[in-house]
Amino acid sequence: MSERPTYPAASTIFHEPALFERETAEVFRSSRVFVGTVDQLPDARSWFVYEAAGRSVIVARDKGDQLGAFVNACAHRGTRLCEGSGQGRLQCPYHGWVFDTDGSLMGPSRRKGLPQAFRNEDHGLTPLSLEQVGSFLFVAESPTQPLREALGAQVAFLERVSEDLVSEIFEIRMEIAANWKLVVSGAIEDYHVPFVHGQSLDPSRQSAAENTLSSPGHSSFAIPAPIPFGLATLMRIFTKGKEPRRSLENTLVFPNLLLVQIWTMTHVTAFVPLGPHRTLRYSRLFDMAPKRPWWTPLGFLYRVLRPLGYRGVFKVYEEDRLIVEKAQRGTAGAKTLVRPPAHAEEVRVEHFLKETAARLGYDYASEIEPAESEPVESEPPPTGEPVEPERA
Ligand code: FES
Ligand SMILES: [Fe+2]
Repeated sequence: MSERPTYPAASTIFHEPALFERETAEVFRSSRVFVGTVDQLPDARSWFVYEAAGRSVIVARDKGDQLGAFVNACAHRGTRLCEGSGQGRLQCPYHGWVFDTDGSLMGPSRRKGLPQAFRNEDHGLTPLSLEQVGSFLFVAESPTQPLREALGAQVAFLERVSEDLVSEIFEIRMEIAANWKLVVSGAIEDYHVPFVHGQSLDPSRQSAAENTLSSPGHSSFAIPAPIPFGLATLMRIFTKGKEPRRSLENTLVFPNLLLVQIWTMTHVTAFVPLGPHRTLRYSRLFDMAPKRPWWTPLGFLYRVLRPLGYRGVFKVYEEDRLIVEKAQRGTAGAKTLVRPPAHAEEVRVEHFLKETAARLGYDYASEIEPAESEPVESEPPPTGEPVEPERA
């Protein structure tokens, strides 16, 4: 028998501020968290801020092209130094101390009034551990294991995906009124698709997803995504010969990086917990095709056809937002709701929650039936049609 406490009910895990605080410390600060991709630091001295719950981090490239991460707090009185992104040295808005993008103090203002023994080198920004795998940047405050060990098999995967992030098409920043675990859960299972996305995705889609789980907490699924007739050749021309994928692959790199790949496109999503009931979903869509000037024949054709590739993406994101917000509101009032039996297509959700629970010292027993015992053939296909309730 396990000595550990059992993972609490939904009314706690999706709502309780104290539990959220523990997750912030034990899932997000002690492990490597995805903060962005290297193209967000295009030039020497460029920087961007990763903003999570109670934690603001400056990720920067210094003048010698070294990458680093620092707590976004001035070494004088702790004022937040910067927001968003930019390039160049950082000046504190409070008393004007200036820092370089390697975290060093370039100079305090009005040095004359400071103690004689004051030395710039004693007052740099607090550094954090930043590591890079392919294009992906991870930051940790107090890592308990090396990044490559924590990522396991995901290292080779991330290096491979990095080669597909050739040009960014657009980004979506969506603030969702739901706990981060509900938002992640909604993004990694296919069970909801016919019901939530019946209007925007193919409602006859039989997911039959091939789920792959790996430790700790990582997972993926793949389903076939045939390319419409003739378009594969065109895609190869746009991508200079790269072979488009014929599947939709959805991969979670625990705890907060989601990669969704279809044809020549890759969605890179960071889930950023902002509070017990608030999560930022920051997604950027990349294509394998390089950017071409619009006045060239290929550049022009690409601009005409490209929207077909991501038609409906915004709608799907919005549908996901609405449904997890409903789940958040529903679980708020369900004090006695214990964990429900999970469908086989939710095996990744179980895996993800189990790892989250383990980080906090909870026991989490999965109730999923082994896949081979699923009576797949006898089940009616999901239609996406609402089912009429039977009336007495
Ligand atoms: S708090 Fe930054 S210079 Fe004073
Ligand atoms: Fe969805």
